[in-house]
Amino acid sequence: MQPIPETAERRAALGQEITARTGLDAAGIEEFLRAFYGAARQDPLLGPAFAGVEDWEGHIATLTRFWGSVALLAGTYHGQPMQAHRPLALTPAHFARWLALFEATARARLTAEGADYMLERARRIARSLELGLIPMPLPARRAPA
Ligand code: HEM
Repeated sequence: MQPIPETAERRAALGQEITARTGLDAAGIEEFLRAFYGAARQDPLLGPAFAGVEDWEGHIATLTRFWGSVALLAGTYHGQPMQAHRPLALTPAHFARWLALFEATARARLTAEGADYMLERARRIARSLELGLIPMPLPARRAPA
């Protein structure tokens, strides 16, 4: 089997295949993200974590580039999500709520294929962020004999 050439043309062709298969495109992703973050800001648990965001249009633009790269292989995002979340003191409950809201918004706004596709990626990324940000509890100490 030939390796996939890492060229802009090849990425663009794969992106078009993904759009054909899932209905996802850059404009649809941005619309979905506006709905998702609109709801996240109102959420009792997530809202306070977003209270420090000063430039919402900038955040939506960054996230649109992020998801364009993750979902459509657009190569438009070059940030460091792990560092961006470090100061927020997120807990497992934040991640569970974030994913539940992401799923509800995806199911309401995207095609079934598009929602499945976005969710699979969101779950994987959330898991790796959660593992990177939240220290694992130490194993319980054995009682002294
Ligand atoms: C667990 C709940 C989460 C909360 C409360 C949260 C909150 C935030 C906040 C406050 C920022 C900084 C925005 C700014 O100052 O402009 C941010 C950035 C970002 N978040 Fe989250 N986030 C969460 C989970 C996630 C997950 C699961 C993903 C990906 C699947 C994600 C992707 C990103 C990205 C890509 C950025 C931009 C980083 C950069 O500056 O390049 N977040 N998030």
